[in-house]
Amino acid sequence: MNSENAVPELAEPNLRALLATAGLDVEYVRAEGNTLYRRSETGGESVEIPVLDCAGGYGSLMFGHNHPELLAVARRLLDDHTPVHAQFSSHPYANSLAAELNRIIRRETGSEEWYFATFANSGAEAVEAAVKHAELDRVLRLAELTERIEATGDQVRAAVDSGAAVLPDEVLTRLGVERPAGTGAAGGADAVEAALAKITEENARLRAKAPVFLALEGGFHGKLMGSVQLTHNAGYREPFAALGVRTRFVPDGRPEALEEILKEEGATLLQLVVEDGLVRVVEHPHPVFCAFLVEPIQGEGGIRPLSKELARSIQAFGEAADCPVVIDEVQSGMGRTGALLASSHLGLRGDYYALAKSLGGGLAKASVMLVRESRYRPQFELVHSSTFAKDSFSCHIALKVLELLEADDGRAYRQATERGAALHGALERVRAAFPDVVKDVRGKGLMLGFEFQDQSLADDETIAGAAGTGMFGYVIAGHLLHAHGIRTFPTASATNTLRFEPSVLLTDDEIGRIEKALTDACEILRAQASDRLVTS
Ligand code: F0G
Repeated sequence: MNSENAVPELAEPNLRALLATAGLDVEYVRAEGNTLYRRSETGGESVEIPVLDCAGGYGSLMFGHNHPELLAVARRLLDDHTPVHAQFSSHPYANSLAAELNRIIRRETGSEEWYFATFANSGAEAVEAAVKHAELDRVLRLAELTERIEATGDQVRAAVDSGAAVLPDEVLTRLGVERPAGTGAAGGADAVEAALAKITEENARLRAKAPVFLALEGGFHGKLMGSVQLTHNAGYREPFAALGVRTRFVPDGRPEALEEILKEEGATLLQLVVEDGLVRVVEHPHPVFCAFLVEPIQGEGGIRPLSKELARSIQAFGEAADCPVVIDEVQSGMGRTGALLASSHLGLRGDYYALAKSLGGGLAKASVMLVRESRYRPQFELVHSSTFAKDSFSCHIALKVLELLEADDGRAYRQATERGAALHGALERVRAAFPDVVKDVRGKGLMLGFEFQDQSLADDETIAGAAGTGMFGYVIAGHLLHAHGIRTFPTASATNTLRFEPSVLLTDDEIGRIEKALTDACEILRAQASDRLVTS
């Protein structure tokens, strides 16, 4: 054994071995448009086999692999020796990118407010930047409120001391404070001190409370230390619960859930003020809610569009509880649903937006967090940064991505809508032919899900076994790959659902191939004939 052979597999060997069980551990060596080329050994010779890519880089390839116009920008930047890393300098291209995003967002949402941009590298990082900003804003709001409350405490003291105001018994009763012994001005002063001490104690108890986050059941917002606590899948989240924030997960279809949360978590900070010679208690809502995280279409959780009703309830909750709404458009955004923001179809307005994936055109790692002006805290710019964010390479590519989206009066958005509808039609035809096998077809534009019926009680032991271990979707994906040259995956937290997120370049011929391949998979499942599944 030579020393090279002695080195074990070190780059996530467990994951590769798991993929191998469904024949998914293939190596791709080249890619263009919707086609990936995988390496295969045939008769001792290495050949390249084309594969139609419907996983679309988990939604990062709106314009396909290695789009020629994006490649041209990348080449030019490198040939021109663009200073990729020049942190702490002027970045006019980042500003152009932020301005262009604002222009499109204004058009889609009708908003007249600016959104300020913080750049980052991945989807999870943009989500965490939004959450950090929201917490900075919450803490500062709380500090400003506390300062106001303390300031009127001194005014109350002075007014009661000078006899300009009296402290009525009902205020003490309300606070649960007994009137101290003694009468007149001196007794009044003691009572004021007791009341203020109680208020300070109660307010301090509330201020010490950890912020509350809201997210939807089935939601996915990343796997970093903070964002994983906003991600619903317990397998990802629970081992790290002690490291992160407290999230309340909101179910769809139970509108009263938000009211219950508001009641359970909401509280009031108290303030004493003088009004018409009387000391009075004023209540202020406690800013305990940090952020409400929402995907307009859940991606990783099974391609589940948010209903208009829930979108409305979320917006109303945000306003009632002064809780900023963070719209995670990491997967649904950048044109995939026929608009830059999938949330704009719902009329849902974000205090924050997170964009990533297709922002980098399939070439750069880029993400951006946008926050509306009325919530913006400029000091955030000094407490959040990354070595790699806002670089010239990714910003210029992202600018080109926006140019491609907006070209010809938004042809790419129209293509996403039209191609998506054509693919949706094909998936729907398969569902209609196999209602016993296919449970649902969902999504919008080029973000579609194809859900199989549960097979855990199937007659075929292999199929039932795969369903029982959560491998069912992967086994079907393996068959689609090896028997039909089509690459897709189940959504990771809903493994009965295959995701279809091809690029706008999708052709009718490719849609036909997808329909044929799914029809074959459904026939195998209807016949309970796992021996016909091809996984290598
Ligand atoms: N938010 C959403 C809505 C996502 O879909 C993802 C990733 C992230 C955040 C995290 O982005 O990977 O760049 O850090 N979704 C992938 C998926 C992995 O399976 O759909 P990241």
